[in-house]
This record gives sequence, C-alpha cells and structure tokens, in this order.
Amino acid sequence: MKKKVFITGSSSGIGEYLAYAYSKLNYFVGLAARREDKLHQVASKCTKLGGGTKIYQLDVLNEENCIEAINDFIELPGEMDTVYANAGIGSPDQLSSGKAETMNRILQTNILGVTNTVMPFIPHMKSQKHGKIAVISSIASFRGLPHHSAYSGSKAAVRNICQGWQSALKKHRVSVTAVCPGFIKSEMTDSNNFYMPFLMDTDVAAKKIIRAVDRRKKVYIFPWQMRLLAIPILKYAPDWIINKFSL
Ligand SMILES: NC(=O)c1ccc[n+]([C@@H]2O[C@H](COP(=O)([O-])OP(=O)(O)OC[C@H]3O[C@@H](n4cnc5c(N)ncnc54)[C@H](OP(=O)(O)O)[C@@H]3O)[C@@H](O)[C@H]2O)c1
Repeated sequence: MKKKVFITGSSSGIGEYLAYAYSKLNYFVGLAARREDKLHQVASKCTKLGGGTKIYQLDVLNEENCIEAINDFIELPGEMDTVYANAGIGSPDQLSSGKAETMNRILQTNILGVTNTVMPFIPHMKSQKHGKIAVISSIASFRGLPHHSAYSGSKAAVRNICQGWQSALKKHRVSVTAVCPGFIKSEMTDSNNFYMPFLMDTDVAAKKIIRAVDRRKKVYIFPWQMRLLAIPILKYAPDWIINKFSL
C-alpha cells in the first residue's frame, strides 16, 4: 500500500523540496498552499519523479478549508504516514507603525496555521496507531529576536506545542518532531540581504528533515554548525551582542 504525506507550504522552498524527496521514495503527496499555479508546477515534477499527488489550494488560516482538504486526503487510498506543518511567513515587526497587523499575521499563520494543519490528522493517526507529525519551527525560536519577535515568538510557540503533543501522543505511537532549521535556500531567504552563515541547499535540507522525522526525533536542529554555535549564543548571549547583530 502506498504511503501518504501531506505538506503545507509545498508551492516553494522547503515544502517543495520535501515533496520532490518523497516523490522519489514513491510516496503519494498532498500538496497544500495558496498559489495553485505553483502547486501544479510542483505536482508535475513530482509525477516525473515517480510520486502521485493531489493538490489542495488552501490558506492554512482557514480552519474549515483545512478540515475539508485533510478529510479528503485521509480518505484517499494508502496509509497516512506523515503530516508536515511547514507553511510559514516572516517579516520585520514594523514596531514604528503603531499597528499590530504585521505581527498578528505572522503569529496567526505560523501558530494557528500549524494547529489547523495538524489537529484534523490526530484522530485518524490515533485510531490507526501510527503516524508522524512534523512542524517546521526555527533556530530563531531560541531567542526573542529584536525586530523579528513575532517570527521568533511564533516559532517558539510551535516548538513548545510540539513538546506537549509528543507526551500526549506517544502512547498512540504518533511521533512529533519540531524541526529547527538554520538558513535554508528558499523564497523566504532569497529576500534577505545579509550574510547567512551555513546557508544550506533546499534539497539537502529536505533529505535531512525526512531522515530526522523518520527517526522520530523530538527536536531536530540543523545544520550541525548552527546547533553547536548559534544555539548557545542565542540562549546565553547578553542583549547588547544580539542587538549588535540584529537585522
Ligand atoms: N528558509 C529558512 O532559512 C527557514 C529557516 C527556519 C525555518 N523556516 C521555516 O520553513 C518553512 C518554509 O519556509 P521556506 O523557507 O521554504 O519559505 P518559502 O519558500 O517562502 O515557503 C513558504 C511556504 O508557505 C506557504 N504559505 C505561506 N502562508 C500560507 C498560508 N496562509 N496558507 C498556506 N500556505 C502558506 C507558501 O505558499 P503560498 O504563498 O503559495 O501560500 C510557501 O509555499 C516556514 O515555516 C519557515 O518559517 C525556514
């Protein structure tokens, strides 16, 4: 029986390359995002690589649409293997704007987008006594970052949520992995005009993520240089150092 994987944010970047990697492994891939044209391009490449796909044009902020799409995906033939809550956005907080709009959009997409994606899968995974949940957090989750506090806060929130889900779902044989990447090539990082240490190719990142999720790691921080260097700095450096290097 073919295994199924559902990936939000698969119209570009990490989600797109996760879809290609799973297609090479002969999985059936549920491709979800807002840009339908991009999803069609990804789907045709997945087909060439050997995987089947179904496209779900949705906004992860729309809970009803997520439930509808996910119920449809669950009903398709095959064994539900992994869900990736990968869709996310990031931009500066706009602290001088006097408006919460930008921060709220980041918090909603990166937190509620995760719960809207994962929650509909949980009853099914519990009843089949098998399943893997992967949430894309970030190395940024380890410190409230100046001018990017909505982003770092949202990623800390989902890492914390993953920890709770891990304990609650373990007895049902459902694993939960909080993936914390450093800098990975994608549309998100393409717009960065600063030096990104240890910037990793998207296809390499996708393979590493899949291996960690398959091994049911609780938290996966990569690349290893970021795990060794950046995490202690983010956790313990005084504010003035973080401010000096803030964007
Ligand atoms: N690249 C990095 O260095 C890095 C590092 C740490 C964590 N991350 C995280 O990795 C995840 C993927 O990002 P990426 O780097 O691959 O960037 P990306 O290329 O910009 O991909 C983001 C994806 O999220 C989708 N998306 C955004 N808002 C959505 C919404 N409301 N509903 C549905 N889909 C939505 C986008 O698709 P549509 O626009 O078509 O909807 C797109 O496919 C994000 O959660 C990001 O925070 C990235």
